[in-house]
Amino acid sequence: MRIVLLGAPGSGKGTQAKQLVDQYHIPQISTGDLLRAAVAADTPLGRMAKAAMDAGQLVSDEIVLGMIRERLAESDAQRGFILDGFPRNLSQAESLDGMLQDLGQPLDLALLIDVDFDVLMQRLTGRRTCESCGAVYNVYSNPPKFDDRCDLCGGNLRRRADDNEETIGNRLRVYEAQTTPVVDYYRRSGRLRTVQGVGEISDIQRAIRRILDAVGRGEASAPAGAGEGAAAAVVARRPAGGEEATARKKPAAKKKPAAKKKTAAKKKAAAKKKPAAKKKPAAKKKPAAKKKPAAKKKPAAKKKAAAKKKAAAKKKPAAKKKPLAKKKSSARKKSAAKKAPARRKTAAKKGVRRRTPRRPK
Ligand code: AP5
Repeated sequence: MRIVLLGAPGSGKGTQAKQLVDQYHIPQISTGDLLRAAVAADTPLGRMAKAAMDAGQLVSDEIVLGMIRERLAESDAQRGFILDGFPRNLSQAESLDGMLQDLGQPLDLALLIDVDFDVLMQRLTGRRTCESCGAVYNVYSNPPKFDDRCDLCGGNLRRRADDNEETIGNRLRVYEAQTTPVVDYYRRSGRLRTVQGVGEISDIQRAIRRILDAVGRGEASAPAGAGEGAAAAVVARRPAGGEEATARKKPAAKKKPAAKKKTAAKKKAAAKKKPAAKKKPAAKKKPAAKKKPAAKKKPAAKKKAAAKKKAAAKKKPAAKKKPLAKKKSSARKKSAAKKAPARRKTAAKKGVRRRTPRRPK
């Protein structure tokens, strides 16, 4: 497995890389560690690099590329490697691709550990590193059991020379200006995967392993230019503007036992067979959804109200009947009206002429 670990200063590249070494049995190649070793040994290369490192600036490409070329040629790197802190700018990224092409060992993926800048300052000012074994601690989030002593080997813990606020500020600015384009470079070529770097170190390690294992199984291959590729589903993507991890749970779906996978596959197949049946109800549901709106329900309510009003209106005349005097007079009129035709009918039957008042001559 050939991996590039990307991330801002303090994002956890070194912390995670050390654990991956044990897991995948490939070396961590940290340009920062190589340069610090050269500075500590006071080699010519170290003397050239020191000023840039103290200022939080990048050491020249010439020095760094020479170091990387030598290191990649060593025997332990033939099985694969984890590049930590390299490449740092576009020129280094393109040179690395060229080197690996010459070796016939293309990069498998670039993994970005994504952390917001506002948490990085505390991480870096709190970092303590063991002089003997390189174990990394943090006085805030991961303190050693005994101050200034390594839990693992009892070695001295030291604060890094460039972990002061001023230099950290410069390192973050350099990252933004020079390394962010490298992230885009790998994204454009479909080799970038991103993992959220905030949370428990062990959780982040698990998320990284899921990605690497998927890549190892060939599940994450993606055509060039396809963004972050198929494995983007298991990680958070960070397009230009920035985004948060959303799918840490999705990899869990990939861990499903074979039986569950089969069931899931069957369900998917079943779902594929039914598309028309499933789509139709969806189409039918729309009108149903249209019927639902309260606007259509209201008329029903209105109808009821109107019916009630009508009923009430019908009852109202009865209320008018209440006055006794009016009731009696109207009753008389009604009975008179009813009787009149009855008399006419009777008279007609008897052959009696209707008595009509004669007109005055
Ligand atoms: P380098 O050594 O590469 O430093 P960096 O990139 O600034 O990264 P760091 O090592 O500071 O951070 P990290 O991401 O490894 O974080 P870590 O795991 O330690 O470079 C140093 C200098 O060398 C550069 O400034 C430059 O001058 C030069 N250089 C290097 N490479 C170069 C290149 N390619 N080209 C040119 N120049 C180059 O974690 C940090 C702290 O956070 C620790 O205390 C850790 O315990 C803690 N932590 C980690 N994860 C978590 C977590 N999840 N929650 C809480 N705390 C956490």
